[in-house]
Amino acid sequence: MTIIVTGGAGFIGSNFVYHMLKKYSDYKIACVDCLTYAGNLSTLEGALKNPNFKFYKADICDREAIDKIFEAEKPNIVVNFAAESHVDRSINDPEVFLKTNILGTQVLMDACRKYGIDRYHQVSTDEVYGDLPLDRPDLLFTEKTPIHASSPYSASKASADLLVLAYHRTYGLPVTISRCSNNYGPYHFPEKLIPLMIINALGEKPLPVYGKGENVRDWLYVSDHCEAIDLIIHKGAVGEVYNVGGHNEMANIDIVKLICKRLGKSEDLITYVADRKGHDMRYAIDPTKIHRELGWLPKTKFENGIDLTIKWYLENRKWWETIISGEYRDYYKQMYENR
Ligand code: NAD
Ligand code: DAU
Repeated sequence: MTIIVTGGAGFIGSNFVYHMLKKYSDYKIACVDCLTYAGNLSTLEGALKNPNFKFYKADICDREAIDKIFEAEKPNIVVNFAAESHVDRSINDPEVFLKTNILGTQVLMDACRKYGIDRYHQVSTDEVYGDLPLDRPDLLFTEKTPIHASSPYSASKASADLLVLAYHRTYGLPVTISRCSNNYGPYHFPEKLIPLMIINALGEKPLPVYGKGENVRDWLYVSDHCEAIDLIIHKGAVGEVYNVGGHNEMANIDIVKLICKRLGKSEDLITYVADRKGHDMRYAIDPTKIHRELGWLPKTKFENGIDLTIKWYLENRKWWETIISGEYRDYYKQMYENR
């Protein structure tokens, strides 16, 4: 069994690589990643020592490079994590989101058609459903909720999902899609809420909360997402979409306060800043289908997951200190200075 994992040098992709190498000692994993600002080879240090793992530095939009990799690897399964993933960046500069997230998906699926595969899996997001109101806790995203994207990022992911389903219907490509809620855990890039707040709090720096901090996200520990994808690629029905989430809704401000408490830092660090444009209010996944059909249930409770995450950032300072000392400094200045 050979699996191509794209975007494996990023947050969730790398966690998935480690999950698969550990669980299936007879599988070959070929990671394809062009190492954008969000991809780090140091993240894959442990995997690179494993003879079952191979790394290809390539852009998923580069048809020639992708074809060569498919020719060499003859994959049974392709799992596509590669994407531009940060909503704020998509608001400032949408173009690369459309290229990677839509056209890159097309290139990968064309290669799947050309060389033949057993499964193409698209890693999508709950953001394709838009958002839910705060005052209707009874409403959840199901797989039947209409696509209603808000940001250039989520519109690009929604477009890719539509293309994936179109390749299934038109060409019979054996596809599956997972739409997961917000992940957290090891190797989460410092631009995202949880790692940003941990790292800033450790440095006694302001903790920039958008708007009033009342927006709600549905947090899932990253290894639970990896297990869901593992189940879907092996047992999921072709042509199907599976929502993935653990019923763990929390307001941003509560997360930030919890991080302050766990790190013994003062809440005075919290600084309310201008809101994100078009800011989605609430995400909440109904995971009934994946539970009923595939038996998936999340294993990590938020109280444990957040402690594990904080511990990981305390023990892996070198990983994030290297990142935040590079181009991230310009990004941070542009995004937060005078906000
Ligand atoms: P990330 O930004 O941490 O990692 C993305 C990876 O993709 C990086 O290693 C980057 O180098 C690589 N990449 C980007 N453009 C590429 C290209 N053109 N060719 C090859 N590689 C490229 O992202 P993440 O948070 O790990 O998200 C992974 C996937 O999961 C994305 O598709 C995202 O939409 C989806 N998702 C993320 C979350 C979340 O909470 N982070 C939740 C649901 C779904
Ligand atoms: O729901 C899944 C999505 O979750 C994924 O598809 C995306 O790839 C991933 O980035 C994530 O998107 P969010 O926009 O929800 O994540 P982010 O960490 O950027 O922000 C989480 C919430 O915190 C959001 O309401 C904005 C807020 N926020 C974020 C940052 C970076 C702040 O208040 N301050 C900040 O500095």
